[in-house]
Amino acid sequence: MQTTESIKEMVKDKYSQIAKQSKEQNESSCCGSSCCSAVDYSLFSEDYSKLEGYEESADLGLGCGVPTQFANIKQGDVVIDLGSGAGNDAFVARSIVGEKGKVIGIDMTDAMIEKARLNNEKLGFNNVEFRLGDIEKIPGTAGIADVVISNCVLNLVPDKEKAFSEIYRVLKDDGHICISDIVLNGEIPEKLKSLAEMYAGCVSGAIQKNEYLKIMNKAGFTNISIKKEKPINIPEDVLDQYLSKEEIATLSNSKLEVLSVTVYAEKKARENCCAPGCCSG
Ligand SMILES: C[S@@+](CC[C@H](N)C(=O)[O-])C[C@H]1O[C@@H](n2cnc3c(N)ncnc32)[C@H](O)[C@@H]1O
Repeated sequence: MQTTESIKEMVKDKYSQIAKQSKEQNESSCCGSSCCSAVDYSLFSEDYSKLEGYEESADLGLGCGVPTQFANIKQGDVVIDLGSGAGNDAFVARSIVGEKGKVIGIDMTDAMIEKARLNNEKLGFNNVEFRLGDIEKIPGTAGIADVVISNCVLNLVPDKEKAFSEIYRVLKDDGHICISDIVLNGEIPEKLKSLAEMYAGCVSGAIQKNEYLKIMNKAGFTNISIKKEKPINIPEDVLDQYLSKEEIATLSNSKLEVLSVTVYAEKKARENCCAPGCCSG
């Protein structure tokens, strides 16, 4: 049976391999994302090349949305990018926060952090920092971020409740989040669920959309809204590797939807308990 720790080790191994390759290599070579993982990330990822702040060497084609598009980031903000990979979204965020803001990328894979730091050195930003750490225990003090973004990562985190409560903790009062991720409507077959490659490929660690939104709500987030939603089709040749013809037919009749979503939510400041009308009853 897979434990939380063994899942994380498998995810780290996978993303260490990917970190050592370019986007093109990942797309075309064996042990690239489309080969080792059985899931081709180009199914998910968006074209970043026209975005302000785009850095080609940070773009490994691993995202499933553009969280900065709806993140309402302002000049001077402190932004945390969770599962920052080689820094793709972090550098886009840096172009918005400018010199007076700060961007902190967090990733648990050493090779990704190394790659992101090399990219940052090349760009010469002294207000962009990449920290090695786990989203279930974010390396950052409470209330440091105006905005938290993340791109195609939380589906990979085994304890999503812990992840969202950590995100809530590091946000300032009145801060907000914008997260692109993979969610499901309907159940994926057990056979696919148990495949490490499907987990690392951002499919089998994904949870139901409703459950995802409930977890956000339970963590304390309000004003939760889905800004963008896009269905993802797992190609038949991928399914062919693992399922029989009958199982593929059952799956296509099952109305399972694999969705890439970009979700926005806010952390509302707690009411001051000694404000008029509160303590006084
Ligand atoms: C699909 S990639 C996305 C990378 C980046 N956001 C992008 O769009 O290019 C997932 C990233 O999340 C990181 N990751 C997965 N689980 C994590 C966790 N529990 N804590 C921190 N990072 C994690 C992986 O190391 C990997 O770099």
